[in-house]
Amino acid sequence: MTGPRYPRWVTDQEHLSKAGFETRAIHAGYEPDPTTGAVIPPIYATSTYKQDGVGGLRGGYEYSRSANPTRAALEGNLAALEEGERGFAFASGLAAEDTLVRATCRPGDHVVLPDDAYGGTYRLFDKVEQAWGVEHTPAPVSDVDAVRAAIRPGQTKLVWLETPTNPLLNIGDIEALAAVAHDAGALLVVDNTFASPYLQQPLTLGADVVVHSTTKYAGGHSDVVGGALVARELELADKIAFHQNAIGAVAGPFDAWLVLRGLKTLGVRMDRHCDNAERIVEFLVGHDAVSHVIYPGLSEHPGHAIAGRQMKRYGGMVSFRVTGGEPHALSVCERTDVFTLGESLGGVESLIEHPGRMTHARVAGTDLEVPADLVRLSVGIETIDDLLADLDRALHTG
Ligand SMILES: Cc1ncc(COP(=O)(O)O)c(C=O)c1O
Repeated sequence: MTGPRYPRWVTDQEHLSKAGFETRAIHAGYEPDPTTGAVIPPIYATSTYKQDGVGGLRGGYEYSRSANPTRAALEGNLAALEEGERGFAFASGLAAEDTLVRATCRPGDHVVLPDDAYGGTYRLFDKVEQAWGVEHTPAPVSDVDAVRAAIRPGQTKLVWLETPTNPLLNIGDIEALAAVAHDAGALLVVDNTFASPYLQQPLTLGADVVVHSTTKYAGGHSDVVGGALVARELELADKIAFHQNAIGAVAGPFDAWLVLRGLKTLGVRMDRHCDNAERIVEFLVGHDAVSHVIYPGLSEHPGHAIAGRQMKRYGGMVSFRVTGGEPHALSVCERTDVFTLGESLGGVESLIEHPGRMTHARVAGTDLEVPADLVRLSVGIETIDDLLADLDRALHTG
């Protein structure tokens, strides 16, 4: 008699199958080392493994591109947090994305992309996947009918969703878009970088695979570049596993260790990111130098109701437009002291940037262009009064 089929991480750690998020974050993917009792997985800086006779592998380890115990601990942890079948760790978010495209598409296929996708994702499709023969059509994630209309029946293999998007924080309805993708025989991919698995678990809402830039909230300390995929079903997991090894853009053991350490505190960090972001939104909404505040937690945000259904809280990313146009936005970005001017997001320290000139400069003149008076904040976990005073000073001196 065969019992229920559990995802791989559950069969490996049955005792955690009903555990809460923080318990899984701290324990899933690794059991204390049987020989030493080490509570934290060692950094296995090894490329190869001694075999006990030809083909006599210990624990399946043969060569570290195929599998490495530190990376395996991270991959098990990611699968547990996203509630998927299997997790995969890569050298960067874009490496994860490219591997996913190779695993699921062939030349001649088509992908629907968010019309405000992360610029690097857009560049990957526009300059790399397109040259390989995979076409793409942008569509707004907040408009289910527009996404449906962008699908080319029989040709579209992936519907790609970011929610919230970067930097305009648009919200896509994961459940509705999963249905649209599945009706067309396509897979729904959700880039969960902005929300993190603490705030949103797309696989439980019908998505087929989750993408992360673990460089961001997962790592959480701005000290590592990494990426991840988590697949809901075995069939897709097997294809990704093959391509992860065949392409080889894997996370090294040091990087895997850093991301795993970051994930252990994801829950407490995200709650503080959200607390601070909510206070900053309240402050910006009442500020006379700010014309528009973009945050899914605001009741006037068009995606507020959907975000409320599919997210635990509204996240640590806040965008706003200033009254004095681009020169004002640039000066605000250059005048903060606690907020560091820089790209990236999701670390414990607050960052500020001008998307039009920085992260999204490469999409200027395309459908993905962002407003010139837009400022994006990655709200960190510093003392909130210091963050508010810093922004107030920068806005006034603009
Ligand atoms: C939403 C999102 N997805 C993917 C990526 C790409 O990740 P990486 O920079 O780790 O390659 C980024 C990077 O900023 C991102 O913000």
